[in-house]
Amino acid sequence: MEKILIASGKGGVGKSTMAVCLANALCARGKRVLLADCDVGLRSLDLLTGLGSGAVYSWLDLLLENCTAADALLQDEKKPLALLTAPNRLETPLEPSAFSEMLSVFDADFDFCLLDAGAGLSDLLTVFGGAADRALLVATPDAVSARAAAAAAELLQETTLSAENLRLVLNRYGRQDVRYGTSLSADEMIDATALQLLGAVPEDVHLRGLSRGETAASPAAEAFARIAARLCGETVPFREKKLKSVLS
Ligand SMILES: Nc1ncnc2c1ncn2[C@@H]1O[C@H](COP(=O)(O)OP(=O)(O)O)[C@@H](O)[C@H]1O
Ligand SMILES: [Mg+2]
Repeated sequence: MEKILIASGKGGVGKSTMAVCLANALCARGKRVLLADCDVGLRSLDLLTGLGSGAVYSWLDLLLENCTAADALLQDEKKPLALLTAPNRLETPLEPSAFSEMLSVFDADFDFCLLDAGAGLSDLLTVFGGAADRALLVATPDAVSARAAAAAAELLQETTLSAENLRLVLNRYGRQDVRYGTSLSADEMIDATALQLLGAVPEDVHLRGLSRGETAASPAAEAFARIAARLCGETVPFREKKLKSVLS
């Protein structure tokens, strides 16, 4: 099971949306995906996936052996997707090794684990980063978001993650906005964050219906499918020409 942290530093840039949509795109490729909501106190994946109605236990309960793995796992009935919800609070600091061990219980059952981090640059982010094989830094195309993504990337490199395991994913990106000068270009974001680009997701009203279970085919869905393909090791050409970044 490959573990991918989705982080940003800044809140509201689309991490949770990205986690759910990428999970769906990976499932559509036949991959088995475990979503781990790591936004302690502000979980959202239970609502965004619609898998939360029977939620009793979080991954913390599993870590503390208050429940079994089967109890904690919320399984989608239609696709190979399951969710571990986040606890409301941590009574004691989270032990990095205990968190990694808890996740490793699922190693044989899933191809990918997507860890949806909360906002901020806390010690918790380094615990989740330390448990991950690589990380996606989500940013909207603006200077504030770029700074936050760069700061999160710097913090994550204090864990077992190194620069080559980090990628930038732009969200709410539109070439029209770049042309009108209302947003930074992909190249400017790459320069500002010193991260290689994995993909760019456009603004898409359909994404706001995620929590109502709406998953219409949309420009964003196509972008997520391309990003999912790249996560599976395929070389998918970037639509924007003349980008400095080499995609992998
Ligand atoms: N590409 C997009 N197009 C339109 N709305 C989006 C897009 N990405 C995210 N959103 C909206 O932005 C808000 C914040 O997204 P969310 O995924 O919760 O961010 P985060 O997890 O980083 O705090 C949500 O209302 C979501 O529907
Ligand atoms: Mg979120």
